[in-house]
Amino acid sequence: MGSEAMTVCVTGAAGFIGSWLVMRLLEQGYVVKATVRDPDNMKKVKHLLDLPNAKERLTLWKADLADEGSFDQAIQGCTGVFHVATPMDFESKDPENEVIKPTINGVLGIMKSCADAKTVRRLVFTSSAGTVNVEEHQKPEYDESCWSDIEFCRAKKMTGWMYFVSKTLAEKAAWEFAKEKNIDFISIIPTLVVGPFITPSMPPSLITALSPLTGKESHYSIIRQGQFVHLDDLCNAHIYLFNHPEAKGRYICSSHNATILELSKMLREKYPEYNVPSEFKGVDETLKNVSFSSKKLKDLGFPFKFSLENMYDEAIASCREKGLIPLSNEKDVNGKI
Ligand SMILES: NC(=O)c1ccc[n+]([C@@H]2O[C@H](COP(=O)([O-])OP(=O)(O)OC[C@H]3O[C@@H](n4cnc5c(N)ncnc54)[C@H](OP(=O)(O)O)[C@@H]3O)[C@@H](O)[C@H]2O)c1
Repeated sequence: MGSEAMTVCVTGAAGFIGSWLVMRLLEQGYVVKATVRDPDNMKKVKHLLDLPNAKERLTLWKADLADEGSFDQAIQGCTGVFHVATPMDFESKDPENEVIKPTINGVLGIMKSCADAKTVRRLVFTSSAGTVNVEEHQKPEYDESCWSDIEFCRAKKMTGWMYFVSKTLAEKAAWEFAKEKNIDFISIIPTLVVGPFITPSMPPSLITALSPLTGKESHYSIIRQGQFVHLDDLCNAHIYLFNHPEAKGRYICSSHNATILELSKMLREKYPEYNVPSEFKGVDETLKNVSFSSKKLKDLGFPFKFSLENMYDEAIASCREKGLIPLSNEKDVNGKI
């Protein structure tokens, strides 16, 4: 095992972002204590155990955001914690108890575990754009001073409302707690994360990102005026912020904006076989972009590497390789795809 100074914990390690982050940390020589809810479920953890350097430097720890204290052991002895896990069930029948409460109590529990461990130098929390711009009227640009309107989410109940509420309340509670207990806490705010992946199942964000290809119309509202970041840029930004001595506060991590019309035009041209629509209800050419400013992250020296096309090409390639999307939407003579 490597040195204690390089030992970090990643929560939600088996997920889309968590697993890529674990891969990058292992590559860079870190010892990783990865939390998952069910370490014995090979279907959900094999992609982690198969990573280069996993045998020497990766261990799996069982922990659930709904169980207080369950992260204590995984965090013990770590210098850094990346809190990535979150319940992502947009179709939950009991959103208060299944999504909102575990997200808030989960981050507070992890902060208590960090304080008790006494070894943790910095906690990096993966927040969400859903904490920033969910409100009735969109601004042309958002920065780290903006917060979503919880009452609007609860009243409108748009797709994913419980997730926006959970992340906003959790991040606000975490900032209070960090101030009170003097914890070095950083939040990173990704917009929609798109890119290649090592998980065996379809990442939740790709259900949304690829909805113009798959026709999942209930997700169109999320990318109507969309912002995007490549998975690899995002994971590198996590590690960058963990290590940068001057990092402080919230950091938006977003490299591209596109309206659903601009995005579908790009996809139609590159992937004609998916019959991506050219018209969307309530959307016309006058629809403006809404941008998320990553100025604060760039000013700290972080370089984004990937284009919007890179994100989609790599995401589509991973989905096709794993058989998660069809190779085309063209129908045969019987009307079947
Ligand atoms: N992907 C995006 O576009 C995007 C954008 C903005 C922010 N984010 C944030 O990024 C983080 C990771 O998202 P993702 O896209 O990687 O989603 P994901 O693939 O669904 O990963 C989420 C992970 O959270 C874990 N989890 C869920 N409920 C849990 C609970 N009660 N206790 C412990 N772990 C639990 C799951 O672990 P198991 O393996 O144990 O089931 C899962 O692996 C989240 O915090 C999300 O808010 C994502």
